[in-house]
Amino acid sequence: MRVFYARAFEDPLIGWLFTDVAKLDLEAHVPKITSFWETILLGERTYHGGAFAVHAELHHKAELRQAHFERWLQIWFGTIDDMFEGERANVAKVHALRVAHAFHERLQNFSSPADGVSAAVPLTITQHGPSD
Ligand code: HEM
Ligand code: HEM
Repeated sequence: MRVFYARAFEDPLIGWLFTDVAKLDLEAHVPKITSFWETILLGERTYHGGAFAVHAELHHKAELRQAHFERWLQIWFGTIDDMFEGERANVAKVHALRVAHAFHERLQNFSSPADGVSAAVPLTITQHGPSD
């Protein structure tokens, strides 16, 4: 996770979204993102959803475009391939691809600065993943 975010923060295409727009505190973010991934990869069930909402909020401040998601995935795939191999490494890549596609598609219904006037629609939460 730390290697991925170090690369993402430095990336010329998406780094500013983390550092300047979200002003992300990495130390506060790491526990959330590790619980997200351990839920998907290790069956830990510590993450209870809501990942889309923070991206809708980010999109409201600076449009998240297809090229941003593509770069995010490129860094994610590259980091995994540098450090891991095997079945779980593949699941990490496949699930990220699904989530990125779903987020990008859902964001089309949310307003971004590119829209000029606000065209926000009510936020719906996807109920997904393991149930308790
Ligand atoms: C062990 C199996 C799985 C686990 C634990 C899991 C877990 C999760 C979690 C925690 C999220 C984030 C939800 C949120 O924050 O609101 C998510 C999102 C998503 N997952 Fe999975 N997942 C699993 C399998 C799958 C499979 C098999 C598919 C598709 C065939 C899938 C497709 C998606 C998609 C499309 C999203 C994004 C949903 C959205 O926000 O629009 N997942 N998953
Ligand atoms: C253009 C691509 C993306 C950008 C710029 C981005 C940026 C961010 C930022 C800035 C946050 C922190 C928001 C905050 O706490 O204020 C965040 C949270 C998060 N992101 Fe992303 N993200 C992207 C794509 C993805 C994808 C593809 C996934 C999943 C595979 C993902 C998973 C998450 C999760 C799980 C959180 C934590 C949500 C929570 O607080 O529960 N992100 N992202």
